[in-house]
Amino acid sequence: MRNRNSALRLTKMRKTILLFVAILSITGIYGQLAVKNLLCENLSNPIGLDAKEPNFSWQLASDKRNTMQTAYEIRVGTDPLMLTASSRSGVTVLTKGKGILWTSGVVKSDASVYVPYKGAALASGKKYFWQVRVTDNFGNTSAWSEPASWQRGILTAADWKAKWIQADSKSDTVNGVPPILRKAFSTKKKIQSATAFITAHGMYEAQINGQRVGDAYLTPGWTSYNKRLQYQAFDVTNLVKTGANAVGVSLGSGWYRTPLAWSGNRNLYGKETALLFQLDITYSDGSTETVISDENWKSSTGAVRFSELYDGETYDAHEEKIGWTTPQYDDKNWAGVMVKDHSKDVLIGTYNELIKKHETFKPVKIFKTPKGEQVIDFGQNVVGWVQVKIKGNAGDKITISHAEVLDKAGNFYTENMRAAKTQNAFILRGGSEEILEPHFTFQGFRYIRIDDFKGAIQAENFTAIALYSDMKPTGQFSCSNPLLKQLQRNIEWGQRGNFLDVPTDCPQRDERLGWTGDAQAFCRTATFNMHAHNFYVKWMKDVAADQLPNGSVPFVIPNVLGKSSSGSTGWADVANIIPWNMYVAYGDKKILEDQYPSMKAWVKFMQDSSKNDLWARGFHFGDWLFYSVNDDRDGKSAITDKYLIAQCFYAYSTQLLINSAQILGKTDDVQYYTDLLKRIKTAFRNEYMTPTGRLVSTSQTAYVLALNFDMLPENLRDQAAERLVQNIKSFNNHLTTGFLGTPYLCHVLTRFGYNDVAYDLLLQETYPSWLYPVKMGATTIWERWDGIKPDGTFQTETMNSFNHYAYGAIGDWMYRVMTGIDTDEKGVGYKQITIKPHLNNRITQAASDYQTYYGKVSSHWQTGNDGLSLDVEIPANTTATIYVPAASENAISENGAALKNIQVVGTEGGYVVLKTGSGKYNFKVKK
Ligand code: BGC
Repeated sequence: MRNRNSALRLTKMRKTILLFVAILSITGIYGQLAVKNLLCENLSNPIGLDAKEPNFSWQLASDKRNTMQTAYEIRVGTDPLMLTASSRSGVTVLTKGKGILWTSGVVKSDASVYVPYKGAALASGKKYFWQVRVTDNFGNTSAWSEPASWQRGILTAADWKAKWIQADSKSDTVNGVPPILRKAFSTKKKIQSATAFITAHGMYEAQINGQRVGDAYLTPGWTSYNKRLQYQAFDVTNLVKTGANAVGVSLGSGWYRTPLAWSGNRNLYGKETALLFQLDITYSDGSTETVISDENWKSSTGAVRFSELYDGETYDAHEEKIGWTTPQYDDKNWAGVMVKDHSKDVLIGTYNELIKKHETFKPVKIFKTPKGEQVIDFGQNVVGWVQVKIKGNAGDKITISHAEVLDKAGNFYTENMRAAKTQNAFILRGGSEEILEPHFTFQGFRYIRIDDFKGAIQAENFTAIALYSDMKPTGQFSCSNPLLKQLQRNIEWGQRGNFLDVPTDCPQRDERLGWTGDAQAFCRTATFNMHAHNFYVKWMKDVAADQLPNGSVPFVIPNVLGKSSSGSTGWADVANIIPWNMYVAYGDKKILEDQYPSMKAWVKFMQDSSKNDLWARGFHFGDWLFYSVNDDRDGKSAITDKYLIAQCFYAYSTQLLINSAQILGKTDDVQYYTDLLKRIKTAFRNEYMTPTGRLVSTSQTAYVLALNFDMLPENLRDQAAERLVQNIKSFNNHLTTGFLGTPYLCHVLTRFGYNDVAYDLLLQETYPSWLYPVKMGATTIWERWDGIKPDGTFQTETMNSFNHYAYGAIGDWMYRVMTGIDTDEKGVGYKQITIKPHLNNRITQAASDYQTYYGKVSSHWQTGNDGLSLDVEIPANTTATIYVPAASENAISENGAALKNIQVVGTEGGYVVLKTGSGKYNFKVKK
């Protein structure tokens, strides 16, 4: 009895201690230090991961200034691990102890990002849990973090038990009705967990027992399917029941066989849709069972009657097979399926965030156009689709067409969609309210036109839904100029609309392709708006996969244009620019390792195509969509010699290869390419530059590229910058750059001391400028500087998208220069932060917050009668160099007092340079 009582007491005590420890760790009181935001392979609790040695990242939470991590300890197990106290705090350590697979031990290190798992090999499909605790430079040790998890994918072709199946019906031919497939199955025991692994040739949507599997759309996403096909893993524990079950999957053509690019380009990857489905069930007694796609499935057709990416979808609710994904459904009249031997070697786990539903918009206006069209305005150019919630009679039809803009007269304008019909049609079942939306298509639109519907059009019946890859937002930018705020908003919407699994040029017309030039121009900006890391890692693997054997890089990735559509300067350089930018922005060395052969192959291609180190051959898009005038008697069109551009990018890609070789310790390559780079620059100078530094092309882009990529001898750079400024002045403070010059324009001006000119360009409100479209009512970034001309007419409909992110590349300058948040290239990924705001008297306030892997970085500045106020936030486990615009350190106060405990490095170009660690700082500089 005594024993029992004391055992009980002990258990009670343990519980109390555990609770105490939990409270301490949640409130962060534990020595003021806690660990939060655990990521595995840069994702929160991912499932279906391929990585053999997944990496772990975490953040330190501490209110103490200058907090650095000095040690960490990770443990990994097969059970959610229990919270334990550190032994140092004197509290009994209570671990469940069960299933601990690996502990790192206490590692003396400040690494808190990409720390690799180094334990025993991990099994296919299994779920693992991990925790971390850290010690800081003040001697505090945190509690163990809340456990996080990751689940492995199906690792090898042999681990797939499922078979590829295809509908055994005539309908699934090229123009046929997309198929639906089903299977009933039963389970006998209590379910502990269930994971569905699914992919398709085409797109799929799956249901188990009448409920949707997951909340992702347009799955399996788009990759170079012949070489890399992603499958998805979904936790379906809550959908599978003990007893009778059924699974149903509908397939659509998707990117796999829908017409892509220009007319006739259909069935690029194959003619028939197909499904691969595997459901791994673990029962509570530990036994397992697998349900797979095989010859026992049945096939039929459903309500989706037609579905293509460009043309849209027809959904006939009459054709819905009610209850077809429930076990009770009778499928005896359904056809069978055929087992196919499609490759499983190309299957890979999903690395990036899936496409999900995000913002929704209700109509802001319902009206009739002068032509009599019934139109709804959602107030935002958005990419996704319109959901209709409607009651009507059986057979009633509603047809929805999509447009980005109205024409000058106020009519619905679709000419710029080119051959894309972008039309969804719904046929009602009749009776009760129906909620209808497409499945395997998407549209880019602000306006819709309603046709064929007899009922009243009411706002509550229509919702525009934004769909895009589910990347976490990372940045917030604001400033005193409302037009700039809108510009930032447009940049963000341009990104949302063109980040549907691949970075596309545009989301609406008969294109929507992974144009490489656009992608490289925008990639650094993209990292400020969203956590685009895995999105680009995944896409860059497709770049490498579709790169040609001679090293040339296709215009679009996945390459649907063919082999000869490759090798354009500024486009193909994506192979080198994105890996480098991701390394800088995220500190990810692995992307350099993985892409290095591809980077090197691209440089080799340029080298092989050059003569005496001059690359002056082949087709190039050039400075795409630069400023030009039709009747150019004054020679105002900003034409830049395409081969001059090619030589600049040849140098830049070679420079990035050298940088990468240095990081990766490839010393021979460093030497070899450094020599090559010297020769490339000499060839440039001999061919395109006079001895006094004048370039053969006098455009802004020519000088911007030559300066940005250090093509000119140092002693001739200042005069070149002067020429650039003269050129800008000759256009009355207007830019004239196209896709290639624009991203670097303001950076070059700031670097050479013309920050005020950069602001003149940024704040310019007349064409050509960033704010001109904003003044014209744009809600996204336009493809062209004058998509809509001042007189309200349009640019040519053959090339006039109103949702093209490339010119949004100015966002990078707004974050990195205007508010001045940057990473030191010596401490990439914001391990060493630079805060260097660039003020301008036309702006009184600018602020940005940016979520890095270490935590939030902020820079907010405001100027007024009493001077400057600068609020800075630096996350734990990082250091920062802060440039405070002030004449001397005596002019600066911090938190109301003179500077103390902050290292003053000196003064530089109108700034006082400070070195700090983590913390929140408020600097004031008196006028
Ligand atoms: C796309 C671009 C792309 C270009 C190539 C266009 O059709 O929309 O953004 O980069 O072709 O110059």
